[in-house]
Amino acid sequence: MEYDYSGIARDIATLIEKAIAPLLGTREAQEPAGESAGGGLTRRIDRIAEDAAIEYLERGSLEYTLITEESGIRGEGDVVIILDPLDGTMNALTGIPFYSVSVALSGTVQYGLVKNLCTHEIYEAFAGSTPLKNGKIITQSRSESIASMYIGTQFEKVLPLVEAWRCLGSLALEISYVVEGTLQAVVDLRKKARIVDIAAAAIIARAGGVILTNEHGKHLFANGFFDERGHFRGECVVCADPVLHRKIIEALNSW
Ligand code: IPD
Ligand code: CA
Repeated sequence: MEYDYSGIARDIATLIEKAIAPLLGTREAQEPAGESAGGGLTRRIDRIAEDAAIEYLERGSLEYTLITEESGIRGEGDVVIILDPLDGTMNALTGIPFYSVSVALSGTVQYGLVKNLCTHEIYEAFAGSTPLKNGKIITQSRSESIASMYIGTQFEKVLPLVEAWRCLGSLALEISYVVEGTLQAVVDLRKKARIVDIAAAAIIARAGGVILTNEHGKHLFANGFFDERGHFRGECVVCADPVLHRKIIEALNSW
């Protein structure tokens, strides 16, 4: 059966946006609401965001398997949805306006959508087609030499390759920024990026000719999305255009 993947992802993002709006800036948003499938703490705002998506999917006719940050795996349907209901929870809780919804759908086709919940900008792509921002083809504007770094082992080898480094706090959005050229690269060396953080952005990145690998230049999550305890596996991420990506991988793997 053919589904409207883009419509489904948009609906999920809109419902999450509406559900968390009353919580922003409140104490309630921060309250513990159980343990996430990642083994970390689920906050009330994460729970409410995820519940909005699950309620929507349960109401619809889509036969789905949902892989989602807080609950892990739900359902056994043919269409696999990888969801981070709120990527950048810390930012949302502290009032830093940089957080997003990340939805990847994979069935007859692959589709990824990342929505900036502060600016309402939408990045999206079907695998194999041109990525869009707010419905328009992304024309890369690469002006400044600025990139995002999550510090981990060997980070100092990468520092000289880019003029200025930032760390913005929503991997899905930061990778989308690389696709549009706002950032030159995202380098996360903590071994903490999970499939839910990057699934949608990875589809958009590949469609836009941006390379996304682990620190050795190899495929991400080659050993699966979950570790032996059933927690989300954490990986390092190197994301950049092919030329800079090669330089970063060479630097990281040099003596
Ligand atoms: C977080 C964001 C952030 C990254 C953290 C993630 P979350 O996702 O992706 O950029 O540094 O490691 O946990 O927890 O807010 O969904
Ligand atoms: Ca999250």
